[in-house]
Amino acid sequence: MRIHCLPLSLLLALIFSPSVFAASPAKRSYDTHDYYVLELNPDGPTSLVDVSQMLGVEIIEQAGELLNHWLVRVEKPSIEARDEARDLVMDTFDSLKVRAGIQRRSQDMEARNFADSVKYLSRQIPRQRIKRAPPPIRRQDADTTARGVAQRLGIQDPMFPQQWHLVNDEFPVHMMNVTSLWEMGLTGKGIISSLVDDGLDYTSVDLKDNFDAADSYDFNDHEPLPTPKLAADHHGTRCAGQIAAGKNTACGLGIAYESKVAGVRILSGPITDVDEAAALNYGFQNVSIYSCSWGPPDDGKSMEGPSQLITKAVLNGINKGRGGLGSIFVFASGNGAAHGDQCNFDGYTNSIYSVTVSAIDYKGLHPYYSEPCAANMIVAYSSGSGQHIVTTDKGINECATSHGGTSAAAPNAVGVFALALEARPDLTWRDIQYLCIKTARIVNPEDPDWEYTATGQLYSYKYGFGALDGWRFITAAKEWTPVKPQTWFKTHSIRLGDGTFDGESNYTGGVPIPQQAEGERGVKSTMTITQDMMTAHNFESLEHINIRVWIKHARRGDVEVEIVSPKGIKSILGAHRIKDMDRNGYPGWTFMSVKHWGENPVGDWTIRVSDQNNPEFNGTFLGWNMIFWGSAADPAQSKLYELPEESFVFPPPEDATSPDTPSTTRLPTRPTDHLPGDHGTTEGENSKPAFSSPPTSTPMPTSTPTADEGYFPDLSNLTSNKKWFFGAIAAVALFGIGAAAFFWYRRRALRRLAYSSLPEDDVPMTSNVQSSGMMNGGASRARGTTRELYDAFGEVSDDDDDANEETRLHPGGRDSARREVGGNELGFHSGFLDDDEPPSVAGSTPGVAHYRDEPDS
Ligand SMILES: *[C@@H]1O[C@H](CO)[C@@H](O)[C@H](O)[C@H]1NC(C)=O
Ligand SMILES: *[C@@H]1O[C@H](CO)[C@@H](O)[C@H](O)[C@H]1NC(C)=O
Ligand SMILES: *[C@@H]1O[C@H](CO)[C@@H](O)[C@H](O)[C@H]1NC(C)=O
Ligand SMILES: *[C@@H]1O[C@H](CO)[C@@H](O)[C@H](O)[C@H]1NC(C)=O
Repeated sequence: MRIHCLPLSLLLALIFSPSVFAASPAKRSYDTHDYYVLELNPDGPTSLVDVSQMLGVEIIEQAGELLNHWLVRVEKPSIEARDEARDLVMDTFDSLKVRAGIQRRSQDMEARNFADSVKYLSRQIPRQRIKRAPPPIRRQDADTTARGVAQRLGIQDPMFPQQWHLVNDEFPVHMMNVTSLWEMGLTGKGIISSLVDDGLDYTSVDLKDNFDAADSYDFNDHEPLPTPKLAADHHGTRCAGQIAAGKNTACGLGIAYESKVAGVRILSGPITDVDEAAALNYGFQNVSIYSCSWGPPDDGKSMEGPSQLITKAVLNGINKGRGGLGSIFVFASGNGAAHGDQCNFDGYTNSIYSVTVSAIDYKGLHPYYSEPCAANMIVAYSSGSGQHIVTTDKGINECATSHGGTSAAAPNAVGVFALALEARPDLTWRDIQYLCIKTARIVNPEDPDWEYTATGQLYSYKYGFGALDGWRFITAAKEWTPVKPQTWFKTHSIRLGDGTFDGESNYTGGVPIPQQAEGERGVKSTMTITQDMMTAHNFESLEHINIRVWIKHARRGDVEVEIVSPKGIKSILGAHRIKDMDRNGYPGWTFMSVKHWGENPVGDWTIRVSDQNNPEFNGTFLGWNMIFWGSAADPAQSKLYELPEESFVFPPPEDATSPDTPSTTRLPTRPTDHLPGDHGTTEGENSKPAFSSPPTSTPMPTSTPTADEGYFPDLSNLTSNKKWFFGAIAAVALFGIGAAAFFWYRRRALRRLAYSSLPEDDVPMTSNVQSSGMMNGGASRARGTTRELYDAFGEVSDDDDDANEETRLHPGGRDSARREVGGNELGFHSGFLDDDEPPSVAGSTPGVAHYRDEPDS
């Protein structure tokens, strides 16, 4: 074991308090060192210094803003001595834990003290996060009829008339509706938004006056300033321009044009969990809003979330950021709708802590790329139906005219929130979510995707509660009474057929998901929530719900999961995903729905798990539980939520110790960016439900109540059945029309009919298509953006390797961190590709390809 000298700054930090240690993060050297994060029990008997000596690691610094979490490192062994399968630090950690004995009854005091002092240790593997901007195409000359507004406000920004998301002359309803707020003097003064992205060009004349260097940092190159360096690094600058481009003579205007923007660069290369965690808390007392237009791949087959460490950082921002009011995290929903992707398969967008923003276009239509799901909160304007977002570009005085995707929708929401926080700096993170829900504007009321919630509001998987309207939001914000503190209630798990899951890969028991018969599909299970339970948990009114499921299935994409509330309101949590061939099912995946906001949760909640009725791919449903989140009846009794230790085991170990009475169960007798270049030009739609049955299977006779069950007695449910029926007819009709059009307009038809399956072999593919391309570096995909969609449809095959590569739990925890050693957890983006850059540049980030699991290396 080696003993390292502590850096002076660290010694000082240890002597005084961790908060003294607030300097910039130390430069990382992942090439020469292996990094780990350890969580120390501050009351434990062994000190940090002793722990580090026992593990043979060098202490670097506190892990971002996470108290008692320390970044440590050890020099990598020489290349010759390197054995990828072994990890001496983790091995030492494991053996100390073993020596301590599971019941802590060991006589080995040193090991016992160690085990009592170290709560968590995880290796840090750099991996690539993915931007969500689509590859735009040239735009036509825009009209300049917004001149009147510009004159009145003295706006000289030359591209302002083309910024239709600020003033839309052709479709005046469809804009962020903020100009009247500017006239009231609200411009975002004093509010800082952080662009967690690929850099921010602070030399731009449009941004430099609003740039906040103190809260900026480059986690890719470990430098103080987030300088965009790669040719493709213009995404963060464009998003920043949407928020805070200055009122001047350069390009256009930001929504909060006197607010400040900080840049935190994480997307220009692989980064570790500890750096991503620090990025999401960077400057979190001064920064109000974190704008995040990225996530796991939007390929329709990934199911990934933040690791435990990153989730801790997000919760840390919620509990402590902004002086305890909570950081506002805004996430783009994802661009994978054309691949059947849904934002409930992305653990960032389905987090209760993020405002998930989808896109609508110039005409208020749903752009084909924008992902639907029950975690969608609102929509904001972005590319489609012939128009893109015009914003500042990288360079001294440059303007981007091809920005878009859900990537551009999220910063438009951030701009509105910045205006709101100027007016009401006391709003908590939950107030912002309430205001989104209460003030969202319905678009396309005729769209069959809208359904009533129990409170009489409309909700859509595509539009969330509707379009974010700046004027409506801020008008309501001014009058808003902040909500009471948060409370929650986690139910016991319902266990079906003695199901177990070992947390890794071994499922046993469970009830088979039966073949479809006579209108009854899948397995249903019901839990009853009583008023006593809610009262015992200090519950006043419901906000988000989480549903966690353990499902074994030979083809995950075949599985459909939905939940029906006591009032008969249905949330589709996971719909069929044609591309998802993962064979590991749902090992404790957590879904989220905002559709039950405000509903009384007392009564029977019924989950239904069904599949595509394909005897080749069977599955079993092992169990589930729920968390109800809401506002506290008695604020004095409320406490801050603490993240439990991460575990995927079923039944969850904590059930054994929880005092809550188990709920009842009933079983029925029979039981980011593979976008083509036309994301801005393709016409959106407003006539399809987000989730329709695939044309190959019988229309879904969802939730027809049977006499003996009567699960869905409610009228509103009948409404939704009718919608499904007409939706199914519409889907079949659309498919027919589309198939005809396909032969005439092959390319366009392919793109528009994103939800339908298309004849695979009719699709031209270029020669360098790889069946496992989704996990490859973006480089090969950067070349032909249309190819990716073709690739996507052509890829549906029984490609075992491919399915294996997609096999993963969401990353995190010690064990999964170790799994990552051999295989990168996150795929690389397929696609932030842009027409104004040399195509070979995007995605060819140095080092990225190293982390892929290459069987031959
Ligand atoms: C936009 O704001 C104006 C106030 O300036 C308001 O009267 C109007 O209703 C808002 N537009 C929509 C579509 O809500
Ligand atoms: C936060 O803001 C305060 C006051 O404006 C300033 O003194 C402090 O340096 C800022 N901290 C950071 C990390 O930017
Ligand atoms: C899976 O778990 C069951 C029950 O715990 C056990 O009997 C079986 O040996 C395990 N199988 C594997 C492959 O680990
Ligand atoms: C799937 O289940 C059906 C009966 O429900 C059975 O006939 C079939 O053999 C099963 N297939 C597999 C691969 O287990």
